[in-house]
Amino acid sequence: MNSTQTEVKTQSISITINGQVVQRTVSDDLALVDFLQEDLGLTGTKLCCGIGVCKACTVAVKQNPTSLSQPILACSTPAVLLNGQNITTIEGIGGGQGIGGGPTAPQKISPVQQAFLDHFAFQCGYCTPGFVMATTMLIERLRGAPVSIEALDAAIANAVGQHICRCTGYARYYRAIRAVIMSEPGLVVGAWQAESKHKGKQSGKHKGKNTDNDRSAHEDMKGAKK
Ligand code: FES
Ligand code: FES
Repeated sequence: MNSTQTEVKTQSISITINGQVVQRTVSDDLALVDFLQEDLGLTGTKLCCGIGVCKACTVAVKQNPTSLSQPILACSTPAVLLNGQNITTIEGIGGGQGIGGGPTAPQKISPVQQAFLDHFAFQCGYCTPGFVMATTMLIERLRGAPVSIEALDAAIANAVGQHICRCTGYARYYRAIRAVIMSEPGLVVGAWQAESKHKGKQSGKHKGKNTDNDRSAHEDMKGAKK
């Protein structure tokens, strides 16, 4: 080796990805997003800003099977740092593995993904995997520690408030996230009473008028970006 060449250091890693153990030898500086996309064909995790700002590349990591999932930015995290850990990518959210495509590809969409479709939450969709991952992790946390109805909007903003959508679909994302959380019993304390009250107000307000979904009462949610 001459003085202008730099030695590429490699490491053997073993990571559980969407339930499947993957073992590879990779260079120390290989970003997780490149490992997912280039080595494993998992192209659902998106590379956007590449510098840890937009959160489009968010994946879920568990240090052990009983721990809560934590968000990790795949663009700025070397794959070697995830050695021995358990990762879920967007391909695994619907119960599939996605690795190599074919029979291991996702077979169904999750309730979060369905809510995003139902509420027309995204346009180009480039930011959507990050929003899906963050919302799924929020729901996981709420299953162990429900919030009050008054604290729900702040919990949502805390989970996805740093995610950037260049198509600016924030209000619809927030509405879809709120809807999917409210649809699962036990995540929000006092949810049933609050929704009944809300529906009562809405039916009075819209009596004799067409309901405009785009002007939902949730649109002015605290923390929602317009
Ligand atoms: S691509 Fe990772 S934070 Fe933007
Ligand atoms: S839907 Fe296009 S960036 Fe969010």
